[in-house]
Amino acid sequence: MTFKVKDHYFHKAKKDNFLARSVYKLEEIDDRYKILKKGDQVIDLGYHPGSWIQYTSEKIGKEGLVIGSDIKPINNKLLNLTNVRLFDKDVFNIETLAELGVFERFGVVLSDMAPNTTGIQSVDQTRSLNLVEMVFSLLPKFLKPRGNLVIKVFESHDAQVFLKEQKSSFEEFHYLRPKSVRSVSKEFFVIGKNFRA
Ligand SMILES: C[S@@+](CC[C@H](N)C(=O)[O-])C[C@H]1O[C@@H](n2cnc3c(N)ncnc32)[C@H](O)[C@@H]1O
Repeated sequence: MTFKVKDHYFHKAKKDNFLARSVYKLEEIDDRYKILKKGDQVIDLGYHPGSWIQYTSEKIGKEGLVIGSDIKPINNKLLNLTNVRLFDKDVFNIETLAELGVFERFGVVLSDMAPNTTGIQSVDQTRSLNLVEMVFSLLPKFLKPRGNLVIKVFESHDAQVFLKEQKSSFEEFHYLRPKSVRSVSKEFFVIGKNFRA
């Protein structure tokens, strides 16, 4: 079930010309944990409509590059951003970095991906955890040693168990539920800093 609640952050995003209210989640994470910096090469997995791309493009500046990939068609509203490259690919079908036109792993991997939800909690939790596990399995291919990760996770016992096992892959591992997450949502974010590839 999808729904759009027109709350404070929805209106704020409209006013600030962001494509989605999710931008305030990344902003809070970045303010707190200093994930993005000028010149970074970033991949945003499941970027659509693209508020994280807008925010990241500004933060990394002209010397940086942010690549977004989503199963949805490319969002033309982002094509004016010169340090952005977009693909309409399922991220799990990307075999090589060369397919994205890059030859080095990324300094930052962002994933705000969510599965199609059914409203049945156990099914949604399992689908969500599958996505998270698949993203962690992509890290050696996508993330540079000492790189940073931000990933959305839906709360469940199994997710906690899985995350505990991943902790040692990063020097720092944090959990944050940003203020702009809707109160009904089970989501939180994991922030991994300094990947031990
Ligand atoms: C919550 S939205 C992302 C919002 C985005 N962070 C923003 O700020 O606008 C999640 C996106 O993940 C995408 N997605 C889910 N599974 C995917 C996959 N396997 N490959 C690529 N994109 C995927 C969905 O199509 C959806 O657009």
